[in-house]
Amino acid sequence: MRISVFGLGYVGCVSAACLCESGHEVWGIDVDPVKVNFLLEGKSPIVEYELPELIAKHRAAGHLNATTSIEEAVRKTEISLICVGTPSLPSGALNTEYARRVCEQIGAAIKDLTRSHTVVLRSTLLPGTTRRELLPRLEQFSGKAEGNGFYIAYNPEFLREGSAVSDFFGPPKTVIGAEREVAAKQVAELYKGLPGPFHMTKIEEAELVKYADNSFHAVKVVFGNEIGAIAKSVGVDSHRVMDIFCSDTKLNLSPYYLKPGFAFGGSCLPKDVRALSACARQNNVAAPLLFSLMESNEESVKRAVKAIQAFGKKKLGVMGLAFKAGTDDMRESPVVELVETLLGKGFNIKIFDRNVSLARLMGSNKAYIESAIPHLAELLCESADDIAVHSEIVLVTYRDHEFYPVLQKLSKHQIVYDLARVPDSEKIHAEYHGVCW
Ligand SMILES: NC(=O)c1ccc[n+]([C@@H]2O[C@H](COP(=O)([O-])OP(=O)(O)OC[C@H]3O[C@@H](n4cnc5c(N)ncnc54)[C@H](O)[C@@H]3O)[C@@H](O)[C@H]2O)c1
Repeated sequence: MRISVFGLGYVGCVSAACLCESGHEVWGIDVDPVKVNFLLEGKSPIVEYELPELIAKHRAAGHLNATTSIEEAVRKTEISLICVGTPSLPSGALNTEYARRVCEQIGAAIKDLTRSHTVVLRSTLLPGTTRRELLPRLEQFSGKAEGNGFYIAYNPEFLREGSAVSDFFGPPKTVIGAEREVAAKQVAELYKGLPGPFHMTKIEEAELVKYADNSFHAVKVVFGNEIGAIAKSVGVDSHRVMDIFCSDTKLNLSPYYLKPGFAFGGSCLPKDVRALSACARQNNVAAPLLFSLMESNEESVKRAVKAIQAFGKKKLGVMGLAFKAGTDDMRESPVVELVETLLGKGFNIKIFDRNVSLARLMGSNKAYIESAIPHLAELLCESADDIAVHSEIVLVTYRDHEFYPVLQKLSKHQIVYDLARVPDSEKIHAEYHGVCW
């Protein structure tokens, strides 16, 4: 394929050289003539392992070209990859000025083009930026509509500086967000044969994936450092601890606990987070990430309270009171806290939880239920169907097969507020809302 690469920084140079290595013909464009000249001379404008050899090789072979003329590059190519910088503004907000500018320039360059051109954003952009800020500029300056003269796609870059070339050929994943299959397929063609999973998504999902990735990487670094600082303060070797931690690919380095939903609870997580935070404080270790966990967890409960209040109805049915399915343990259940808050706000509540009902009769939690939450035990009903009859709003707190047929029988005048992302939610006729989806 013939490709234009806008922005000859880290992402642009690596993409340009590696795409040549994959057999494509590339035109590099930058507003900085010094970078363009570097490429024309077969040299790398950036320091990056294995890159100078690739640039020299493909420049000599005539696969790699460079120019400051946008019209020339766009005319000679079928696809443009935008790799310009998106730095922080003084406020911390994203500066999309260069991406906007380049879209205006590409728009103007494709105005009189008789064949279709595909514009692919590779710069890191907040969700909605491509559609709301960049697409209108391409349309305005080209006088064409997306899908009729040009296509747009968003394809985040996951390379790490220092190992960028090997990351290009061994990406952790490839993500392509596009409106139309034809554009997604064209972008996928660029990475044909590369290992790792391929994900074809909506543009906004692809945009947010990049931020989820980098924020999680930041969380990992900070978490490792906080555990390290606490370990040092108590005379424990942090690397021994984290080696063991990382060997757990079932609960620790795994998808477990990472799906958006409701607050954590139960007899261990809150207690242990509080204890480790107290230990850090006693040892004068500042650990803001650890200290923030309970507060952030509390926000999940507040968000749910606000959302449920906003429905403007008072008859609430709760499916599931324990903190997760398959248990009658209600110690520090955030659902208990949520229900208590809503009771306090005048909601007329009924609860169904088979495990809690059984425990109330005979389980080890009988005493807890009778002493700590007798006011909630009074609200327990016998079946999920009772909830359906009672409720204007049905709150589902965990996944349970007993709930699903009842949810599907609800009428369109009822509301489902889902904390658990129940399967087959499209089969629910009631007005459906997820806690964070
Ligand atoms: N550096 C990384 O490791 C990395 C990894 C993944 C994603 N990203 C993202 O990729 C984007 C680019 O990052 P980078 O580190 O390569 O940036 P960079 O600052 O190294 O390079 C950006 C280049 O764009 C050029 N440019 C600006 N406006 C232009 C225009 N109108 N036309 C042509 N060129 C123009 C600049 O002159 C510069 O050479 C950013 O959004 C960044 O967040 C970076």
